[in-house]
Amino acid sequence: MTIKMLLHLFLLVNQALADPDPKMDKRKEKPSGYEKLLDEQKVIRRLLASPQSDYDWRVRPRGSLNPNSEAGPVIVQVNKYLRSISKVDDVNMEYSLHFTFREEWVDERLYFASDHLDHIILTPGQKIWTPDTFFQNEKDGKKHDIDTPNILIRVHNGTGKILYSCRLTLTLSCPMRLADYPLDVQNCVADFASYAYTVRDIVYVWKNKDPIQIKDGLRQSLPSFLLSRVSIGNCTSNTATGSYSCLRTELQLKREFSYYLLQLYIPSFMLVAVSWVSFWLDKDSVPARVTLGVTTLLTMTTQASGVNANLPPVSYTKAIDIWIGVCLAFIFGALLEFALVNWAARQDIVRQSYRAKQQANLFFRNENQNMYTPLTSDVNSMHMSINLREVKN
Ligand SMILES: *[C@@H]1O[C@H](CO)[C@@H](O)[C@H](O)[C@H]1NC(C)=O
Ligand SMILES: *[C@@H]1O[C@H](CO)[C@@H](O)[C@H](O)[C@H]1NC(C)=O
Repeated sequence: MTIKMLLHLFLLVNQALADPDPKMDKRKEKPSGYEKLLDEQKVIRRLLASPQSDYDWRVRPRGSLNPNSEAGPVIVQVNKYLRSISKVDDVNMEYSLHFTFREEWVDERLYFASDHLDHIILTPGQKIWTPDTFFQNEKDGKKHDIDTPNILIRVHNGTGKILYSCRLTLTLSCPMRLADYPLDVQNCVADFASYAYTVRDIVYVWKNKDPIQIKDGLRQSLPSFLLSRVSIGNCTSNTATGSYSCLRTELQLKREFSYYLLQLYIPSFMLVAVSWVSFWLDKDSVPARVTLGVTTLLTMTTQASGVNANLPPVSYTKAIDIWIGVCLAFIFGALLEFALVNWAARQDIVRQSYRAKQQANLFFRNENQNMYTPLTSDVNSMHMSINLREVKN
């Protein structure tokens, strides 16, 4: 076994380097900073750069230090540090997530043992094998590389453990159900899996301790949402090309209601109340009542279209549609009430005059027959009818 031989050789070399004289005092062995750097350089060169090194970054590691262990998948331990959630876009149904993504696995080929190096750091340029993780619901994204690529690769002493960490900003799709808008709670997920390696080669697991860390103040940082819960899950999927290990982060985003209360609910309620003012106005002041009704109706319509401009055209009814619909119905009702009142008032006049006319006819008929005298209350209308009759004749 070449690996085993290499290990032994390295341990021997290391021993020789670290203990030039076994009789020397233990405390004096501690190397100074410069020697430590030299040591690190030596380790890196031995691991990756030397012509004898049989490291091929295209081949996945066995994932275990134990040479007798059965060939299993590489276990990749993952944790995330959420830094910010920048925009939750209802129209495009997506959100932006900025986080540090950390993966840990064992690459036995990069094993080293040193007495005074806890770990070595590899620069992103040094090619080592890394899991080919991709985010399944990613629409767009970037790896940050100001000033240099924001990537950390650490090889730990004595365990062969690799820590790979990078800073990502991703735009992830988040299908939203807007039936309860704006009282809704959205569950947005971020799934990641290996693109090429099936569960026989790579298995992702969440780190036991703190799989998701959240930056202080992140929960309140979104203007119109509150991050109410962050949970982890498993989304291992079977596709035509095999079964792929997949892990899920689920963010529960609760829409902040206060914004809508101030911007929408109170103003629209006030509009409805204003439309009721017309009930106190005289039924004959037509311009005032019509203007009031039409203006409030138009304002309400404008508000409704303003709300819908920030939403995708969905086929189902949203809670906000019901509210706006009811408000519109009230305002429309007030306008309609005025029209009815006006019409009914005119109808009354017509009916009164008609009744008066009939009574007048009756009166004349009765007078001719000398049988009936009209009631005093009907005298006025009777006179009116008589006048009308005279004019007609
Ligand atoms: C590095 O690992 C080796 C082997 O496990 C151990 O003997 C040594 O003490 C470790 N060195 C440090 C600095 O922890
Ligand atoms: C995820 O689910 C699959 C099958 O549903 C299971 O085999 C696997 O062990 C689970 N992984 C984790 C990390 O729970």
